[in-house]
Amino acid sequence: MKNPKEKKSEAIIAYESYTARVGKETIPCYTPSIGKEELALVTDVIERNWLSENKYTREFESKLAEICERKYAVCFGNATAALISGMKGLGLKTGDEIIVPSLSHSADPNSISATGATPVFADVDEETLCLSVKTIEVVRTARTKAILYVCAYGNTGALDTITRYAKKHKLFLINDSAPALFGTYKGKPIPSYGDFSVLSFFADKTITTGEGGMLLSDNTKLVSEANIYKHDGRRERGVDTIERRGYNFRITELQSAVGVAQLKKADYFVKRKKEILGIYRKKLSGVSGVRVFAFNSLADAVPHRAILFVPNAKKLIRHLETCGIGARTLFMPMHSQPAYGEKGHFPITEKLFKTGVCLPSAPNLKQEEIEYVCSEITNYYQTR
Ligand SMILES: Cc1ncc(COP(=O)(O)O)c(C=O)c1O
Repeated sequence: MKNPKEKKSEAIIAYESYTARVGKETIPCYTPSIGKEELALVTDVIERNWLSENKYTREFESKLAEICERKYAVCFGNATAALISGMKGLGLKTGDEIIVPSLSHSADPNSISATGATPVFADVDEETLCLSVKTIEVVRTARTKAILYVCAYGNTGALDTITRYAKKHKLFLINDSAPALFGTYKGKPIPSYGDFSVLSFFADKTITTGEGGMLLSDNTKLVSEANIYKHDGRRERGVDTIERRGYNFRITELQSAVGVAQLKKADYFVKRKKEILGIYRKKLSGVSGVRVFAFNSLADAVPHRAILFVPNAKKLIRHLETCGIGARTLFMPMHSQPAYGEKGHFPITEKLFKTGVCLPSAPNLKQEEIEYVCSEITNYYQTR
């Protein structure tokens, strides 16, 4: 038995500090909406006594392929695993350079690094928070093999122009649409762009499976390769031949059952996220010095987060924390992270990080909670 006096591991200490901090939030930055519909399908999985990928996983995939207008959709344990498998499936490897925004989730440069390729950071466009041809051109070299485009916070820039640009320069276009499910750009689903795209179903995404991801593509060979990397280097469970040095990147059937149940409520989630952004815009429009981020008008994006630009993001976040409100900065620029620490200067990325605040955006937020967040922000700037 464990000696209670035994020292806690660093991981446990970090976990306890994180949960204690977010546990104090009476209005969290995000909470998933799950309930009896998910419970019913999870119960069904348990009663069937088959916990690894099975019929709910196939159903989840086929529904997502249809929604995203893709030939294929393949479930993964998370979006990072889908990115690694997709990039390996395209043959990207050591010596290749892949352009990625510094304003991204660590999953982006990390997954590039996992293939052996080199992440080359680029700045983003201030209006969209995403890469543009202009910011890509600054860092493209003869070794560039792919662009890892990131649909930051569910938004997108000119995906059609970027697609043409990638074709012209014979570059693969990888579309990290992790938070962009149900969004469209010029009438087409955002995840339908790119040689392949990925989705995340982490707990803060529009639909969640707790952890989970999906790779979407129209390319039969790429999907077949990515599947091999996902299944430990073999074509499926139960096959003995190991064709590649792969991984176990599978989702569980319990998670897929949650995903299928979540899909039935997706219209409501999307509607609420748009409504919540609209309320923030209305209530905060008169506050001097702050601006609610406007998603691309050429896209019908689903706001992953309501984002507010303010003079000093960290100061506002600290104030909101004292009011029990969970708010976050935008992604901490990857070029300045210890794992990547590079000399580059990315002025727009740095400015966005210093000024961007993600406000509570869960579909289950109550009107009075949103009003409370807005009144705290208004008071904060009016008394300064
Ligand atoms: C843009 C982006 N890419 C990748 C990820 C990573 O997704 P996952 O945690 O499913 O690997 C996230 C998660 O928030 C994200 O926002």
